[in-house]
Amino acid sequence: LKITKTARKTRDFVEKMKETDKTVIFFYGSQTGTAEDYAARLAKEGTQRYNLKTMTADLEDYDMNLLDTLPADHLAVFVLATYGEGEPTDNAVDFWEHLVTGEDVPEFSVGDYEDADKPLNHLNFVMFGLGNRTYEHYNSVCRRVDEKLQALGATRIGERGEGDDDGSLEEDFLSWKDDMWKATCDFLGIDFLAGNSGPRQATYKVQEHTPEEVEGLKKVYYGEHQEPKFMLGSRPTYDSKNPYSAPIAVSRELFEVSANRHCLHMEVDITGSGITYQTGDHIAVWSVNAEQEVNKLATVLRIADKLDTVLTVSNTDPASTKLPFPVPTTYRTVLRNYVDITAPPSRAFIGQLTPFAPTEAASKLFALWGQDKEAFRINVADARRSLGTVLEKILGVGQSMEIPFDLLIESIPRLQARYYSISSSAKAHPTSIHLTAVVLDYKPDVAPEETVYGLATNFLHSCHGRINQSGPIEPKYEISGPNGAHFVGETGVKVPVHVRHSNFKLPRNSALPIIMIGPGTGVAPFRGFVQDRAQDVKNGKKVGATVLFFGCRREDEDYLYKDEWPELMKDIEGGQVITAFSRQPGVPKTYVQHRMSEHKELIWDLIHKKGGYFYVCGDAKNMAREVNHTLIEIAMSVGEMSEEKATTYVKELRGRGRYEEDVWS
Ligand code: FAD
Ligand code: 2AM
Repeated sequence: LKITKTARKTRDFVEKMKETDKTVIFFYGSQTGTAEDYAARLAKEGTQRYNLKTMTADLEDYDMNLLDTLPADHLAVFVLATYGEGEPTDNAVDFWEHLVTGEDVPEFSVGDYEDADKPLNHLNFVMFGLGNRTYEHYNSVCRRVDEKLQALGATRIGERGEGDDDGSLEEDFLSWKDDMWKATCDFLGIDFLAGNSGPRQATYKVQEHTPEEVEGLKKVYYGEHQEPKFMLGSRPTYDSKNPYSAPIAVSRELFEVSANRHCLHMEVDITGSGITYQTGDHIAVWSVNAEQEVNKLATVLRIADKLDTVLTVSNTDPASTKLPFPVPTTYRTVLRNYVDITAPPSRAFIGQLTPFAPTEAASKLFALWGQDKEAFRINVADARRSLGTVLEKILGVGQSMEIPFDLLIESIPRLQARYYSISSSAKAHPTSIHLTAVVLDYKPDVAPEETVYGLATNFLHSCHGRINQSGPIEPKYEISGPNGAHFVGETGVKVPVHVRHSNFKLPRNSALPIIMIGPGTGVAPFRGFVQDRAQDVKNGKKVGATVLFFGCRREDEDYLYKDEWPELMKDIEGGQVITAFSRQPGVPKTYVQHRMSEHKELIWDLIHKKGGYFYVCGDAKNMAREVNHTLIEIAMSVGEMSEEKATTYVKELRGRGRYEEDVWS
């Protein structure tokens, strides 16, 4: 037996920097690709404008114990997103645990320092964080990493930047960037003002294949993420890099009488996949772009007639090995499966298109929308226009232009999964995962004549239409045919998914009471929770009171799983659903928090006296905050606490894991 040794990628970034002659490394902690995109943009700008020798680095690809060996005249830049409740992104977990949550002084490679508490004395770094102000732990990952690096002796160059995804992340990033470059240039002894804005240097090279060449290719990718990693004889593992194409076993409309609003209940079959989940986890759905958007963009960029041409993408810098998607592939697959063509393009990208404008008028608009924040906000960001629509608006309908395809690949983020709170119990449904998703469409305030369709939910809606072809729902969006790897033969529909573990979990002791606040699709994980508890009762376990506060518009319209609750709750002692209808004719507008106030004695009894757990799921922006406030009021009125004490009490509930949130904005 001959064993071939494949070259192992080095985890020593200092060695790699030395080998490839780099002096600035841009580490990213990225979940949905934005931090990664920012790191790549910074690295590129550093090279292009200041002649820096830069490289980007996925935190999980390198051994961060070697941070102490980065030479003092080198620079480490961190671009770190904060995810969920102040957690690091998946690829930053090891780094985070080593540096921040581990021992007092984390161990580094050298281990023998003049000042034992300052192992990072030689390290110079730059910090930018991506967060969302709606969440309590705003940008806590970058803040805590920043603090810890400095505590360990490292020096931060320039101010720490923080971007707010709920406000204008891109603008926060752009305005921080200039000051950062100034500080970085000062540190590296480079003249900031001399930065050149010479011709664009491409990051990628795109090469088209002739039909003869295509015949010789081993594989062409049509939407797959990457080759499944599996050891001989074992099953592949499915994760964000390798989602599982799961058959949709059931798809049902949950809204009763509404012709325009849709909520889907879907069950994907994971039988035989090896995938497991726990009640309260999230399922990630990988959708594809709608055919309308693909065709619109292809037409406006004059590539409609070569969508099926096979192409290969490679890095212009031999030191970079990462490609944005698997190759060889086709133009159609890139636009349909791999890049996010529906999200509004960035202001920087619009500005970069100016030199390619076919007319003077278009050139002016590219420059204006690329530079003027207000013009960009109204015409692009707040109008939620896709790249194709922005180009149509600038060029005029029916007009087109050419841009280098490598610029497009470099400038548009990759298509990302959307997460859904799993609405089934792993105990009751070990081989299927249920999700509950409202189909998103809206008319932006700044462009009320246009309709924007949410990507993943309309993709699911289209799948739903395919499954229930005789049903009444006409999908608004047409999705890809067999090439998209989503349709199997003529009948089955598959959707690529993976499971993401969450901390949103029932108490270990089922005898403890729980209170669940879940208006709208916020009810999703609670269907799983209640199924779990009902199963426990069946198995003879003692189950505590199980109270769900559910809110929706009208009892006869969007009361989710209305028919299921009586059966699920019937054997649970103290099991009940308390409803709040906000648009029920003849009834005052009522929200879940109003019902909480009405049932304050019950809540206090279950939480304070019986040691119960409190859960909130759904809208992060207003609902979750108001619910938190209402619980404080209950502690004040029934628990007879001062406001300060009540606030601390609720905070401590959170600290002990007895107040859990699963919220999104
Ligand atoms: P996208 O194409 O991603 O568009 C959404 C974006 O459009 C928003 O981010 C916002 O920027 C913008 N937008 C939306 N409405 C408006 C408006 N009125 N005006 C202007 N801009 C607007 N969703 C569920 O339905 N069920 C769940 O159980 C669920 N669980 C989730 C759990 C987690 C942990 C997270 C993070 C999210 C969850 N979501 C859930 C939300 C879900 O992930 C998607 O964000 C949602 O389905 C929309 O996805 P989309 O691709 O259809 O829309
Ligand atoms: P509304 O849209 O009629 O105002 C699910 O979306 C339910 O949550 C709806 O009944 C919606 O009411 C309600 N809702 C809207 N804002 C809320 C808030 N701040 N707190 C609690 N519920 C809210």
